Amino acid sequence: MTMRHLRTTLDVVDRSALDGLMLRAQELKRHRSQRRLAPTLAGRVIAMLFEKPSTRTRVSFQSGSAQLGAHCIVLEGRDIWLQAKDNDGEVLRDTARVIGGAVDLIVVRPMSSHATVDELARHAGVPVINGLSDRDHPCQVLTDLFTLYERREHPYQSRMAFVGDSLAMANGYLALASLCGLELRLALPEGVAVDADLLRRAQSKANVMITHDPRAAVEGADVVATAAWSGPVAAGFRVDDALLQLASDEVTVLHPLPAHRGAEITDDVLEGPRSVAFQQAQNRLPVQQALLEALLH
Ligand code: CP
Repeated sequence: MTMRHLRTTLDVVDRSALDGLMLRAQELKRHRSQRRLAPTLAGRVIAMLFEKPSTRTRVSFQSGSAQLGAHCIVLEGRDIWLQAKDNDGEVLRDTARVIGGAVDLIVVRPMSSHATVDELARHAGVPVINGLSDRDHPCQVLTDLFTLYERREHPYQSRMAFVGDSLAMANGYLALASLCGLELRLALPEGVAVDADLLRRAQSKANVMITHDPRAAVEGADVVATAAWSGPVAAGFRVDDALLQLASDEVTVLHPLPAHRGAEITDDVLEGPRSVAFQQAQNRLPVQQALLEALLH
């Protein structure tokens, strides 16, 4: 089975496809640094539909596709009929058919529900990439794995802790655990529940723990990940030096950015030697280039 869309991280299909993406992203990153990227996407057109703000996703897709010879059209919600008021708008499936008929691939960041991603994929007739929904953030999750590839000898053998309330990241890491078997501990605040099917699937393939205690999740972890919260950060959930004392001495700290310094992570930790947040941000580009190639060839 080959990847047809990237609606969620699970669309990567299997470990072999995951390995292929990581290796190709490594190659693309190297080729870019040597200024010898080939125009593998020449003549292709990508539409990016953003109903919410984005810095990294938008810039890395635009720049990354241009570097490979593709053209990118960026559409914000207000640019098209989708969000028009007073019943003057267009239903999503009609917009999907029209945009899909004009371009080769669509990247979407929906305002609210992940259902927008699925509906586009059903009707557009071209591959669709989820640029962050309430269910998953596959481009970021795959980039986080790629960044671990660069930092750790055996990335799939990492003991990873996620401390936060982002269901997109928590669900994405669960999917990643089921694809590659990494050990995962999710420290989630009370009232935040991951997708039950994803959890069952991950627990059948990997060592996965869910807790409300960040200290239990971080104890001995090789990787500690966090992300911006949707509201105030729960007590004990800030990634700070005291929490990281419990982790492995060689711990790698992940943050997808944008960061709220002093909220989910301290300034010291974000800027310190354990953090790879800005390496992650740069890695969005080669990982998404590898995804575009995989979906467009
Ligand atoms: N990490 C991430 O997706 O960043 P943006 O919201 O800026 O795209």
